[in-house]
Amino acid sequence: MKLPDSVKILLLGSGGRESALAWKIAQSPRLAALFIAPGNAGTAAYGTNVDLNPNNFGTVKQFILTNNINLVVVGPEEPLVKGIQDYIREDSEIYHVPVIGPSMAGARLEGSKDFAKGFMTRHGIPTARYRSFTKDNLAEGYDFIDSLTAPYVLKADGLAAGKGVLILDSAAEAKAELGNILGGKFGAAGNTVVIEEYLDGIECSVFAVTDGRDYKLLPVAKDYKRIGEGDTGPNTGGMGAVSPVPFADAEFMDKVRSRIIEPTVEGLRQENIDYKGFIFLGLMNVGGEPFVIEYNVRMGDPETEAVMPLVESDIVEMFEAVAYGKLAGYELKISRQHCVTVMCVAGGYPGDYGKGDEITGLDTAAEATGSIIFHAGTVRQGQKTVTNGGRVLTVTSLGKTTQEALKKSYATIAGIDFRGKYFRRDIGKDLLKKK
Ligand code: AMP
Ligand code: GLY
Repeated sequence: MKLPDSVKILLLGSGGRESALAWKIAQSPRLAALFIAPGNAGTAAYGTNVDLNPNNFGTVKQFILTNNINLVVVGPEEPLVKGIQDYIREDSEIYHVPVIGPSMAGARLEGSKDFAKGFMTRHGIPTARYRSFTKDNLAEGYDFIDSLTAPYVLKADGLAAGKGVLILDSAAEAKAELGNILGGKFGAAGNTVVIEEYLDGIECSVFAVTDGRDYKLLPVAKDYKRIGEGDTGPNTGGMGAVSPVPFADAEFMDKVRSRIIEPTVEGLRQENIDYKGFIFLGLMNVGGEPFVIEYNVRMGDPETEAVMPLVESDIVEMFEAVAYGKLAGYELKISRQHCVTVMCVAGGYPGDYGKGDEITGLDTAAEATGSIIFHAGTVRQGQKTVTNGGRVLTVTSLGKTTQEALKKSYATIAGIDFRGKYFRRDIGKDLLKKK
């Protein structure tokens, strides 16, 4: 089985991640048409934006049928956790259209932290020691907190828009928050709470694609989650990323493959979980030993914006290999360059921020640097491109070194403006110091 020679692709999502995926897909000689649903002002340069909600599976189906779509690529987790892969696979009219993204059962690796921890335990995958609690065993939760040392890590089981993890310095606060989460602070996502040991180390994001049997690794990235320089202030959806990551060296990655990726792919197979798509492992490097902090069932954002430009192979052929179980014979070529992406956000983000502010400089800012401007929260308004989200756009650059790439991104950002533009000037700096 294979895709037709000319492939019509529907990409679901609207953020910077989908911009980078669309940019990469658009370079494939195999591409006949790319539709991005709903996309943003930037994705229109790589294909056709479609006003369609990825979580409304009925309209996705109609679009697939009307436009003879051959492949669906799912960007964000929500449609996967809600079962879009199963919906398509089980529909007699569209079951033949492959989906890049796991079944609902596989998406539980991200959709349920309790499931993910149980999976890791069953397959001997290194992760922080944990227990799960509901309202029914709250008192045991308090005892478990007392058995740990500070800081305390509490995680709402379900999807909570990236806000479901709390790290608390005192046992009293941890107990109070356990009560709050079980009491509905994050809605139903918090009906179960995972409490786990704190891991002290440095994080990185490892990306694999799997066809359910074999896997390939994409470049490793590190993202910068806090709003403030020096990793201070509240968490965001991501303020920048760099790839590759110097501490993810050959020795570390050997451990990641043998202790984490291989048991994960094998575990999915043993549990009969249909999984054809990306696996994103949020890892903690604790003194050279990798531990899984979390699984995601999609690519990272903004990591994708720093990873896609390093992929030299045709991504449509990679998707074909994933869809039809041919990954073992697929050669994934990765550039030896360094790539960085620096996110520009709206003033006030991740708190309240304005929308609808005109963005200037988009056509000229990258002329001298060759940077790629990936849109995230943008929309067209007549002749203008205006802000439409907290994370507005991200500027990606390649270089022989991380420093060289960073210089280009910062020079490009200087040529772009919108009201309240903010970005971190220290992306990648912690890694430069280390090596
Ligand atoms: P998550 O939503 O699972 O990515 O968690 C958000 C962030 O919390 C992670 O990126 C880590 O920085 C931090 N975190 C989660 N679990 C732990 C842990 N067990 N030890 C230390 N930090 C953690
Ligand atoms: N950058 C982290 C994420 O996409 O969840």
